[in-house]
Amino acid sequence: MSVATRLQAMQPTDVGVPGPTSWDMARAFRSVRADPLTFLGEVSQRFGDTVSFPVPGAPALLLNDPADVKHVLQTSARSWGKDTVQYAALARVTGPGLLASAEPSWIDHRRLAAPAFHHQRLEAVGDEVRAAARTAITARLGGTARSGEVVDVAALTHTIGLDAVGRALFSTDLSDQAHDLLAATSEAADLVVRLGRSILPRAEWTPTRTNLRLRSARRRLDAGAAAIIAERRARNAHAGATAHHGDDLLGLLLDSGMHDGEIRDELVTMVIAGHETVAAALAWTLMLLAEHPVAQRRVRDELARHAGPVPLVGHRDRLPWTRAVVDEALRLYPPAWAISRRSHRDDELGGRPVPAGTLAIISPWLVHRRPDLWPEPEAFRPERFLDGTARTGYLPFGQGPRLCIGREFALGEMVVVLAELLREHRLEVPGGPGAWTRPVAEAKVAVHPRGGMPLVVRRTGSP
Ligand code: HEM
Repeated sequence: MSVATRLQAMQPTDVGVPGPTSWDMARAFRSVRADPLTFLGEVSQRFGDTVSFPVPGAPALLLNDPADVKHVLQTSARSWGKDTVQYAALARVTGPGLLASAEPSWIDHRRLAAPAFHHQRLEAVGDEVRAAARTAITARLGGTARSGEVVDVAALTHTIGLDAVGRALFSTDLSDQAHDLLAATSEAADLVVRLGRSILPRAEWTPTRTNLRLRSARRRLDAGAAAIIAERRARNAHAGATAHHGDDLLGLLLDSGMHDGEIRDELVTMVIAGHETVAAALAWTLMLLAEHPVAQRRVRDELARHAGPVPLVGHRDRLPWTRAVVDEALRLYPPAWAISRRSHRDDELGGRPVPAGTLAIISPWLVHRRPDLWPEPEAFRPERFLDGTARTGYLPFGQGPRLCIGREFALGEMVVVLAELLREHRLEVPGGPGAWTRPVAEAKVAVHPRGGMPLVVRRTGSP
């Protein structure tokens, strides 16, 4: 590469889109790292629907217009891949599993895993998800008095999230390993975020503190995944079974002929993608219900009218209000706060040419707060979703071919956990509405409540 070409690669590419200057970015450096959600909100308010960041080389654009978002994620998805810092950092933990994979072979893995998330299969694992919820609720809230107790419901939803993935997708009771797996996934997720934001990428083998901790978390995740795989193989051998390892995700992966490394990548992907997100979403949903007692009572009334256990699928008809609460909570607190793509070829966005290599950053957090699509965007109004129609500018699970494979499972799990929890418990904000401040929304792999979500939990029937 000539010196001139190299110098050119160091310059930002001007595509005629406004945005902060390098000086603005340097001044905002700390807030970009500490609170990216607020930073992104500020730049989009200041510069509009498309914002250009001053990075060397190909443009980096924040896209808030639903038409541009649809173009990148759906209509022109073939031209926009996952070769971004965000997914490279994730791949350091998950390997090229379904979520992080930037390879065309992703589609083969997706097809292979899909039956584990089909409607019929989800109907069959409803009991497992309910059991995960009941076990954790009894263990943590079994002794809750009518007078109430302050409980970190985020810790509770994390335990349920991990156990539900283990039971439903791997037919494995992860409770023995839960503590270590939770610690390893949380640590790995934190480190992934740190790597994704680091401005100076370092080789994986350099012994930085982050790299060493990541290696240790990875080893623990590998050990967890290896134990799950070995246990299933042994169970199968014991039963005298031949090729068929079962209908759950683990069975499908083992039957596929994938080697153990690939199976490990998919297992770790599902553990990380499948429990952090649901756990965070549930914690925010419970907070919103604690803040809105009328909406909470309506959920409880709806559940009281529902005969029998709540299924994992088909809530829109059977429990429309509860499902609308979940949809609205996912609008206000979408766990996946940023989705990134890089263009493989020259393309156009909003009629403006953009070169190959352009980075697109899409934030459901921002799109879900557009006042033109969501009047009074900060207000919690489940009514918005009662008619059940698909909404422009609503993408908690992404859009297009890489839409979340666990979407129905996640939505079902959220409704089932709400049912199990709210049937016998009431939630309130500690100290009453006047004294309550929401925990800060911290953008990690998912948007978490910083410091947990302490809510008052009372047994129902109390005054
Ligand atoms: C509320 C819960 C969840 C949210 C908000 C969520 C969000 C998302 C989003 C936004 C994407 C697309 C990312 C992109 O396009 O770059 C995605 C993909 C994915 N999610 Fe989820 N997710 C949730 C639950 C789950 C669960 C429960 C699982 C599995 C057990 C799961 C597994 C995956 C996988 C494997 C992908 C990659 C799919 C592909 O590229 O083919 N997610 N998720």
